[in-house]
Amino acid sequence: MKQICVIGVGYVGLVTAACFADLGNRVVALDINEAKIEGLKNGLMPIYEPGLEELVSRNVKAGRLSFTTSYADGLSGTEFVFIAVGTPMGVDGEADLRYVAESARMVAVNMTNPLIIVNKSTVPVGTGDWTADIIRKNQKTPIQFAVVSCPEFLREGSAISDFMQPYRTILGSLDLDAAEKVAQLHLPLRAPIMITDLRTAEMIKYASNAFLATKISFINEIANICEALGADVKEVAVGMGYDKRIGSSFLDAGLGYGGSCFPKDVKALEYMAAEKGRHPQLLNAVMEINDDRRPMAVERVREMVGDLNGKSIGLLGLSFKPNTDDMRDAPSLLIADLLHKAGAKVKAYDPVAMEIAHRLMPEVEMGEGIYEVAEGCDALMLITEWNEFKQLDLARLKSIMKQAIIFDGRNIYDPAEMKQAGFRYRGLGRGYNND
Ligand SMILES: NC(=O)c1ccc[n+]([C@@H]2O[C@H](COP(=O)([O-])OP(=O)(O)OC[C@H]3O[C@@H](n4cnc5c(N)ncnc54)[C@H](O)[C@@H]3O)[C@@H](O)[C@H]2O)c1
Repeated sequence: MKQICVIGVGYVGLVTAACFADLGNRVVALDINEAKIEGLKNGLMPIYEPGLEELVSRNVKAGRLSFTTSYADGLSGTEFVFIAVGTPMGVDGEADLRYVAESARMVAVNMTNPLIIVNKSTVPVGTGDWTADIIRKNQKTPIQFAVVSCPEFLREGSAISDFMQPYRTILGSLDLDAAEKVAQLHLPLRAPIMITDLRTAEMIKYASNAFLATKISFINEIANICEALGADVKEVAVGMGYDKRIGSSFLDAGLGYGGSCFPKDVKALEYMAAEKGRHPQLLNAVMEINDDRRPMAVERVREMVGDLNGKSIGLLGLSFKPNTDDMRDAPSLLIADLLHKAGAKVKAYDPVAMEIAHRLMPEVEMGEGIYEVAEGCDALMLITEWNEFKQLDLARLKSIMKQAIIFDGRNIYDPAEMKQAGFRYRGLGRGYNND
């Protein structure tokens, strides 16, 4: 049993803490947000993530997982410190490292024994060295420590299985001994472990996210071309995906990538490159294609409904993807805003994100369910492909909507079925539109 302190109890930190505890370690999860820690001590989850509540509760009961706001308590007797604080987008597109800096400073001030400090946050190349500098400068007395980069690749919505069955563990450090010790912690996960230098590990995370974002923008570009040429992008993606060199994942045309990672990470990589005088043309194109998706969706609805002023539009799904309540950079935010600015009345329903969404989009009327939202609408827009939206009662919808119009932002419906049910339907790059 190893003792671990995880700093930052968000989507990554809480999952990391609970999973390491489940693997038999003693874990203290630390956050400066007192309400979050107080809630967790009382069994309240600060985020929605399938399976997390049960995992946390089981490990708290077993005495392997505890919560604190105190660095002194969190660091006492620990060997490993995982930093998992946020690194949001700064004003110019760079990663904002203030939370990483503050947690490193607090570790330095409060550490009383040698530590291996493992950075899980997504941070610009060079941050590991910079973190070591902060710690050295803020230590009261020199105590030995090592910094290891261990970027996280989990996805919200499947975070626990992603953590427990990762494709790989990447470790970067100048201190091989420390990297080996962190590797030992990950051995039960039975995934390939790659040990490299700090900067390369940090870059692997950005390059991986930028590649996945590129795949998404690529298929969205193909969707645009399919639309013009009468091909069906959904079938095109299936045909492409049979080729193992291409793979079938991340080939779903849609409303563009969102969430807390891809938008900020692609932008931060572009910023790092530009700062060093490079011209990341591909990254710029990826972002440009992505930026067009939300206004394009509103335009498609306008084409079907006509002037949006005074129209009633229903949104199905608000979170940036299914199985999470995360609203960071969710397509629904800009879409609702554009509809609202065009004079439309916007109603919405999401299985878990409505409470958070309501704070971010007070002008949107939140409904109890699909059919409450659809009642009297001129068009329904499928924004997030939650399972419960996959089987709609089309006859019921048609009878309660003002106009039978559906915009399918995730291509989950069958255009022929929609036509048969009497709907005017638009997907993305489906070749054939019945509007
Ligand atoms: N969310 C994801 O799906 C995901 C996946 C892979 C990597 N990442 C990366 O992991 C990092 C964390 O992301 P997240 O989504 O979990 O963030 P989050 O915003 O959900 O959580 C961050 C937490 O850190 C806490 N915090 C901030 N400053 C602190 C401090 N000085 N001391 C202690 N706690 C502090 C905040 O209160 C918050 O609870 C980011 O760098 C992100 O890019 C995120």
